Amino acid sequence: MRANPKVRELVRGTRVTAKDLVYPIFVDARAKAPQPIASMPGVHRQSLRTVAKEAGDAADLGVPAIILFGLPREKDEIGSGASAKDGVVQEAIRRIKDVSDVAVIADLCLCEYTSHGHCGLLKGARIDNDRTLEAYGKIAVSQALAGADMVAPSGMMDGQVAAIRKALDEAGFEELPILSYAVKFASAFYGPFREAADGAPKFGDRRGHQMDPGSGGQALREARLDLDEGADILMVKPAMPYLDVLAALRRECDAPLAAFQVSGEYAALKAAAANGWLDEEAAVLESLTAIRRAGADFVLSYFAKDYAARLA
Ligand code: PBG
Ligand code: ZN
Repeated sequence: MRANPKVRELVRGTRVTAKDLVYPIFVDARAKAPQPIASMPGVHRQSLRTVAKEAGDAADLGVPAIILFGLPREKDEIGSGASAKDGVVQEAIRRIKDVSDVAVIADLCLCEYTSHGHCGLLKGARIDNDRTLEAYGKIAVSQALAGADMVAPSGMMDGQVAAIRKALDEAGFEELPILSYAVKFASAFYGPFREAADGAPKFGDRRGHQMDPGSGGQALREARLDLDEGADILMVKPAMPYLDVLAALRRECDAPLAAFQVSGEYAALKAAAANGWLDEEAAVLESLTAIRRAGADFVLSYFAKDYAARLA
């Protein structure tokens, strides 16, 4: 059966098209032109002037959605740039929406906006979970007002989905979906992202709220909690090291599932390919296929644009 390429294709259960992908874009309020990110070859921090073209290019290749990460002009203790009317993500959304009908997902967190780099507001050296929820609600509404099609809370605070749902509903955005980073592990694979988004914590780490890599069994609980709070789509992150978790969730719940092939996964594949140790095209196809096969309905990947361009 496998000897015949036509039959092989016929019986292939999992395919990856451009329509299964979301393209992450960094936008930097201070950049005048796209800035390359050393640890992520081929990925740039876009400027407010270039971000709409980058999003439009992905859309033209058939990628249905992008997810935005912002680097604000200035950071402060409470991350006020995250919910500012003229904040970097809010401005980027408006510019993209002016020229393209690509779906814009707004990553919703504070770590790129706070001077201390934590995902929440602090009380002493600790995150104040509940005060952070109020801030998240405000961010969600400001992103919705700017025209976001979906918000994606990534901070792993307890109760964040319920707080955001309530804030959105009260502001008249009852129909705006929430993509929850429900199953997000405290991972070394976020390293390049923290350079790219300048969002590394200045002290401590995120292990008090992100999941422990050895505790995959808690994934289902995290997923159920978020669904009960009103999440529309659940995300597992990183992707490749957690395919077992993704597959378990697929079996246990009927919500749409996303997986994020994160910065470190991208960097590792790129570095190996640059050395001639891996065939990049083949490895990217195989990794995206594996992530979909494990149960992801769609995949957030820095390879999205390249992959879509190859299919086009
Ligand atoms: C911020 C956030 C992170 C990522 C997405 N949103 C970093 C982190 O939690 O430290 C990682 C994405 C990537 O590595 O590509 N909360
Ligand atoms: Zn964060």
